[in-house]
Amino acid sequence: MVEEVVDRRRVQFEFAKRSFEAFLSERERFLPYLKPQVTPVLYMDLEGIKSRYIELRYHLPQVKVYYAVKANDHPEIIRVLAELGSGFEVASSEELRRVLEMGVSPDRVISSNPVKPMDFIEYAYSKGVDRFAVDSFTEVDKLAKVAKRSRVYVRLVVPNEGSDWPLSKKFGVDVNTALDILEYAREKGLIPYGVTFHVGSQCNNYRNWFIGIRTAAELWSKAKERGLRLQMLNLGGGIPVRYTYEALSVEDIAYYVRGLLQKFFPSMPHELQIEPGRGIVGDQGIMVTRVIGKARRGNENWIYIDTGVFNGLAEALGGIRYAFYLDREGELEEWTIGGVSCDSMDVVARSVPLPEPEVGDYLYILSAGAYTTVYAANFNGFPVPQVVFP
Ligand SMILES: Cc1ncc(COP(=O)(O)O)c(C=O)c1O
Repeated sequence: MVEEVVDRRRVQFEFAKRSFEAFLSERERFLPYLKPQVTPVLYMDLEGIKSRYIELRYHLPQVKVYYAVKANDHPEIIRVLAELGSGFEVASSEELRRVLEMGVSPDRVISSNPVKPMDFIEYAYSKGVDRFAVDSFTEVDKLAKVAKRSRVYVRLVVPNEGSDWPLSKKFGVDVNTALDILEYAREKGLIPYGVTFHVGSQCNNYRNWFIGIRTAAELWSKAKERGLRLQMLNLGGGIPVRYTYEALSVEDIAYYVRGLLQKFFPSMPHELQIEPGRGIVGDQGIMVTRVIGKARRGNENWIYIDTGVFNGLAEALGGIRYAFYLDREGELEEWTIGGVSCDSMDVVARSVPLPEPEVGDYLYILSAGAYTTVYAANFNGFPVPQVVFP
């Protein structure tokens, strides 16, 4: 019998290499930028962002897209999406200010964070934003006070299994509580408008959409029995991108979601929304960093790079495993990648297969377009990655 030997390191490294090559083959204009003088730098592809938006609209034509600004709030990204007619999901006065500055009218803006600062609600309502998510009676009280005639949509809790960045523990309620909240909102003079859920960010499990849409449909019909006529179903975010494994495609998710909507909503909601963040910008960015140090500690190989979890790679602390590529030949070994700061928590990845790096080498981080620069701080005095649109 012939034993098949799978070299896991080789498979992982080749996957990163293919991602790197595929990214560049579609973006030849990026080639002159690969060895920048100053690092770290995040190169973002505005054309790619537009394509992702158009792809989503193409596969889900009845669903209005509200880009979740938190994923990457760079003005250029907001500008191109605004020009394409996208809506926007915002959580703070600053995000809203950035969106309005691009000439977006407030009726293209929603706010889906179920717990919002009072001053933000006041500011948003004063600017004409009148659609807010809720998942508590307290939030209804807050809205009834300062956003009196606003439309509210309730956030349901749904499983986040199979999502690399789960969100459901913090927000969401069950169907019965959701109904009580909507009824309470009506009593308080607000307009019960719809329902939302979030399958978890970087969701690679179709089942979460299944449960989300089925639970929303249950709420929908029970609401009708109570005389609450909902109009809007918001499908949240969760569309994944390629990191160290192949992600579900927009086309496949859309096909599945369209089927679920037909099954569970025989008469379609008047309004359908989706609010992707990562799925629009995540794989449209590549971060270029440089190796600044190398060490052997016990039986571990370490390299250190000029950015870290405090300067843009915060998601490495949670469930996101980035793909790293280094342009060298040679035997692959596993490396722990340390961030630039003195903090021992600042470790970007472990067991990353790479050919032996040298100080000064460029290390490329794929799919770094979402939830990187928005988190970045100058901890320890180190710079946040500069953002460039080649
Ligand atoms: C309320 C809400 N909507 C949308 C998003 C965007 O999610 P994703 O980036 O997974 O598409 C998030 C992410 O945290 C969120 O909290």
